[in-house]
Amino acid sequence: MAAHFGLDIGSTSIKILKIDGNKVTSVVVAQNPTGKNITLMSNAEKIALADQLKEMIKSAGLRGKQVVASISESLIYSRIMKFPIMSSPELATAIKWELDQSVPFPPNEVETSWAVLEKPDKLKGDEKISVYVVAVPTKVSDAYVQLLELVEVEPVRLENEIPALIRAFSSSLIDSSPSILVDIGASGTVLILAGKEKIFGNYYLPYGGSVMTKLVADTFRLSIAQAESYKRTYGMVEDQLEGKMLSVLKPVIDNLIGEIKKMSISFQNEHPDSTVNRVILTGGGSYLLGLISYLSKSLEGTEVVLGNPFFDKVVDPKYQALAPIFSITYGLAADQP
Ligand SMILES: Nc1ncnc2c1ncn2[C@@H]1O[C@H](COP(=O)(O)OP(=O)(O)OP(=O)(O)O)[C@@H](O)[C@H]1O
Ligand SMILES: [Mg+2]
Repeated sequence: MAAHFGLDIGSTSIKILKIDGNKVTSVVVAQNPTGKNITLMSNAEKIALADQLKEMIKSAGLRGKQVVASISESLIYSRIMKFPIMSSPELATAIKWELDQSVPFPPNEVETSWAVLEKPDKLKGDEKISVYVVAVPTKVSDAYVQLLELVEVEPVRLENEIPALIRAFSSSLIDSSPSILVDIGASGTVLILAGKEKIFGNYYLPYGGSVMTKLVADTFRLSIAQAESYKRTYGMVEDQLEGKMLSVLKPVIDNLIGEIKKMSISFQNEHPDSTVNRVILTGGGSYLLGLISYLSKSLEGTEVVLGNPFFDKVVDPKYQALAPIFSITYGLAADQP
């Protein structure tokens, strides 16, 4: 049983939960009053947020102080790197060199970690070592640590959203036929092509639900609050508002579909004997009415489902319908394999 709870501080919503055996407990979600990620908050905003987090922890009935928190994917660099077969020290040098080319921070201001995903035994043909590399700017991890100190909790670890999302769905992922996890948040969308143990690709799109709301507000000349309510009521359903919502949101969703297809095609080219199993949608944006049927139609043949990390757990029924927005939090709260 995990001693820690999971904490996901999204730009619009903050989520907390704990896993006790087969039960999901201490589930709390609240609005992020700043509407920003941590690195953009002033000290006063951080102090106010810390007070709110203390309240949330209290209302969740959590007594333990240990926490695993996620760092927004928008603030870190993470990707799959492939290298020819080489020794571990050579690999460390090669990763460092690659990062120096792509991360706009001096090496002494970045914390790097990596996991070897695939290391062929023998050198045959062009087989490569596949490594998942994460680089976190020190000022980003410092900002999270500082906030958690204000909240008076003990971070067991901080991790980016990708491992947490994979852990949340690991029981339904298969290495030989991976799935594309798509977490549609407010400010960004995380895409991961993953099996149980392997990551084949990942991508961060710097737009999500907020951009859709803004488009609706601009098109219908509504306030952001009214546009949010329009979006939640009508979604992208074709026969609503004479198809206007569909035409407003279509460019954003088509762009997302383009990225899903690119990921899928690149996997297919590298693994001609395998196929993408399904697309699993999570995050608040995945509730958009009409989204699943639109994606299913556009992705011809690939199953598209709403992810439910609580599917084999006992949870208060009032939170069951919120399962998709708790995917990252669930993965943080789960024990590491
Ligand atoms: N019923 C709904 N229909 C459409 N969109 C919705 C619905 N419910 C929530 N959303 C959208 O989901 C988004 C919030 O999702 P979520 O809580 O996963 O984001 P976040 O974690 O705060 O953001 P980020 O991860 O980008 O920092 C908002 O943009 C909101 O408009
Ligand atoms: Mg989020």
